[in-house]
Amino acid sequence: MDLDGKKILVTGAAGFIGSNLVSKLLTYDCKIIGLDNFSTGRREYIENFLKNQRFNLIEGDIRNFNLLQKKFTNIDIIFHEAALSSVIRSLEDPLSSHEVNVTGTLNLLLIAKELNVERFVFASSSSVYGETKTLPKQEDMPLSPFSPYGVSKLAAEKYVYSFYKIYGVNTVSLRYFNVYGPNQVASPYSGVISIFISRILQNQSPIIFGDGTQTRDFTFVKDVVEANLLAATKDTAIGRVFNIATGKRISIIELAQLILKLCNKSRIKIQFQPPRAGDILHSLADITLAKKFLNYFPQFDLQQGLKETIDWFQSKRTG
Ligand code: UD1
Repeated sequence: MDLDGKKILVTGAAGFIGSNLVSKLLTYDCKIIGLDNFSTGRREYIENFLKNQRFNLIEGDIRNFNLLQKKFTNIDIIFHEAALSSVIRSLEDPLSSHEVNVTGTLNLLLIAKELNVERFVFASSSSVYGETKTLPKQEDMPLSPFSPYGVSKLAAEKYVYSFYKIYGVNTVSLRYFNVYGPNQVASPYSGVISIFISRILQNQSPIIFGDGTQTRDFTFVKDVVEANLLAATKDTAIGRVFNIATGKRISIIELAQLILKLCNKSRIKIQFQPPRAGDILHSLADITLAKKFLNYFPQFDLQQGLKETIDWFQSKRTG
C-alpha cells in the first residue's frame, strides 16, 4: 500500500508523537485530517501545518462519538495517537485515563469499521507488560500491567484486536517503549528525558526517583514515526502487535550523566528522591518481530536522539 493519494486521520495531531507524524506525512501526497482537543496538545505544533492545503484541523474529543460520526465520512487510514499518556496522571485520575484511552479508542474503532478504512494503526505502550520475569520483553509474554495507564492501553489493545478478528478491520498495534524527542515538553506527566534536559539547561539538578538503577529502552520519536508509516503500508503487519523500541537499555543514572555531559553541565549534582509509585524496574524490548514483519530498523541511537532533542530545547529557549 502507498500513502500517496490517501485520506488520513491522525488523532492527537497536536501532541508530541502526533505532530511529528503529521510533519512526516505532509512530505507525501496525501490529505491529512488532524484531530485534537488541545488538552495536552499544543497549537504552536500545528501552526505550520495549517498553512498547508493538504492539512485540515478538527478540534474535538475522541470521547465524543457523535462528533466523530458527524465529522468523518471518508477516511482511508487512521493513526490513533491521541491518549492521556502518563503513568502518573493515571494514578491521580484513573477514570479520565480510562475514558480517553479505552472509550476513545473504542469510538475510533467503531468509526474505522463504519467507514471501512484500509488501516487502523494504534499507539499502544510498553506499559502493557508490567514487570516481566525475564528480559527482553517479547510480544507473546504474559501481560500484567499494574498502573491504570498500562491497564487502559491493554484494554484498548484488546479492543483493537477484537475489531480485527470479529469485524475484519485491518488493525496494527505498536507498543512504544519510552519515546522521546522534539515536541515533548517537560511537565510532571512527560517522559524523563524531557524533564532532565529542561532542568539541566536551567542549571537545575536532575532528580532521580529511586537509586537510578532502573533501566529503560528509550526510542527516538522519528523511529516511532517510521514504524507508523510501515505499519500503515505493509500488509504483513495486519492483525499484529509489535514492540517499537531500540532493543537497548540504559539506567536512569547513566542517562542523567549522559545528558549532563551532552549539555556540558557535568558539574551539576544529581539529586535523589524516593521511588515513584507504579514504576516498574526494568524495560527492554525484543524488536525481532518488528524487524521481520514491518522491516523496522531503528535509525537513531540514544546519543544522536539526545543531541537532536537537546538542540530542540535550546532552540526553543533562544527562539
Ligand atoms: C511509562 C511507560 C511508557 C509510557 C510512559 C508514558 C513503562 C515501562 N513505560 O514510562 O510505555 O509511554 O510511561 O508516560 O511502563 N524518573 C526520574 N526522574 C524524573 C522523571 C522520571 O527518575 O524526573 C524515572 C521514573 O521514576 C522512571 C524512569 O525515570 O523510573 C522513566 O520514567 P518516565 O519517563 O516517566 O517513563 P515510564 O514511567 O518508564
